[in-house]
Amino acid sequence: MLTSASYKPRQFDLSGLVGISDRTLEMHFKLYEGYVQNTNVLTEKISAMLADGKIDHEEMPAYSELTRRLGFEYNGMVLHEYYFGNMTRRGIGDPAQQAAFRQAAAASFGSYDTWRADFVGIGMMRGVGWAICYQDPANGRLSNHWISLHEIGNVSGFTPLLVMDVWEHAFLLDYKPAERPKYIEAFFANIDWNVVEERVRVGAGASR
Ligand SMILES: [Fe+2]
Repeated sequence: MLTSASYKPRQFDLSGLVGISDRTLEMHFKLYEGYVQNTNVLTEKISAMLADGKIDHEEMPAYSELTRRLGFEYNGMVLHEYYFGNMTRRGIGDPAQQAAFRQAAAASFGSYDTWRADFVGIGMMRGVGWAICYQDPANGRLSNHWISLHEIGNVSGFTPLLVMDVWEHAFLLDYKPAERPKYIEAFFANIDWNVVEERVRVGAGASR
């Protein structure tokens, strides 16, 4: 039973991107909706088990399996929202010279170009996962991370600024598996740097 607390899939108007076809996006939106649905289903099943106020011994195996899947489904949902949310058909390629993101990247990596080389390098890593640029809210520092599947490698409390899906489903209808560099190039052409800029926190923030 869905409740008011259930997640609902968000809508993204992304048709007409550079180098990422509408067909890919439509398929990808359906996959994303599956993560939203599975997040709700897991939550409902766990909630049903808790209805009597305890987890019985015989419930423990099923309860454990459902709970272990939460990280996969929740992160699958949320990371796709960051990913679709940081793209636009009006991409400008790289952030403006005065952008806070560019300045934070330069402060953390020496230059924006070095940050970009690292992010692209992570996107090229073999395997199924994501390249994510995070910001540490405690000191404003940026760091790029490889995330296996959806849940392995995320840094607790860090803010995702730029999220790139490099599962093959993100580009296989448009490029061959070995053509991932072309997909990454297309992704950069479509980045919504205004959205990324809104995610950046300027200066040191909360302590940890
Ligand atoms: Fe995906």
